[in-house]
Amino acid sequence: MSGATLIDGKAIAAGLRGEVAAAVVRFAGEHGVHPGLAVVLVGDDPASQVYVRNKKRETEAAGMASFEVKVPAATSERELLAVVEELNRRADVDGILVQLPLPPHIDSGRVIEAIDPAKDVDGFHPINAGRLASGQPGLVPCTPLGCIILAKSVQPDLMGLEAVVVGRSNIVGKPVAQLLLAENCTVTIAHSKSRALPEITARADLLVAAVGRPELIRGDWIKPGAIVIDVGINRVPGEGGKHRLVGDVDFEDTRHVAGAITPVPGGVGPMTIACLLRNTLVAAASRRGLPIPL
Ligand code: GUN
Repeated sequence: MSGATLIDGKAIAAGLRGEVAAAVVRFAGEHGVHPGLAVVLVGDDPASQVYVRNKKRETEAAGMASFEVKVPAATSERELLAVVEELNRRADVDGILVQLPLPPHIDSGRVIEAIDPAKDVDGFHPINAGRLASGQPGLVPCTPLGCIILAKSVQPDLMGLEAVVVGRSNIVGKPVAQLLLAENCTVTIAHSKSRALPEITARADLLVAAVGRPELIRGDWIKPGAIVIDVGINRVPGEGGKHRLVGDVDFEDTRHVAGAITPVPGGVGPMTIACLLRNTLVAAASRRGLPIPL
């Protein structure tokens, strides 16, 4: 059998960033508003520092203002809540993202709930999660939105598909399931404790893997021709003492069975920041009661 179509997340993300940049110019011209994104980083975790640096670069490249708030790892929860409340009040801040994970002495749920839902560009606030679940407009989590855009790049109408999501996190599994439901898919949410996982995944016309287990999903778990969206980013030992990144799907084993598949890296990963930029523009418009310029 010939190989699956490779879904080029890098190229699709670049296209979306370009659309957002063009819309930012139009929006600023029409309404005199220059959207701004604030990213809060607690401590000096190296991976988080890389993410935050990339967010700043891409935000500025899209023509939006980027504000970085860096506070020490020892910052108390009360101090962090004060930082969030200050950003809630600032007129020039349209989006607030608190980089996760937070140090263990801080309750991330409490911090997320302190963010003004109108500025919650991660879509993690329970108000936005509730809006998504009840089909109301709101800010939608970035990685799940990226998954839907990638799936639609190979099949524009997802109506009626059997969709299986492996993973049930608040950040990916649950919201991506809600988005697939809104696209009129028949949705199953499976997870690491599900029995007969290979039988469940083999039913999927569209499989979203977001379980955080390196290469768990094998080729014989996949329905021939299925669309496979791999959200996993797992560092595993590679050759010569180096690490390599692998997804939750065994790519080499699966690419000959699937109809279309996202690679890791270069699949879902680049979509997250592109969707964050989109959400920042959406927040800038909707919190002022303006039409969404995308
Ligand atoms: N850490 C890793 N991914 C994310 C994300 O999408 N949002 C936030 N806030 N933190 C993260």
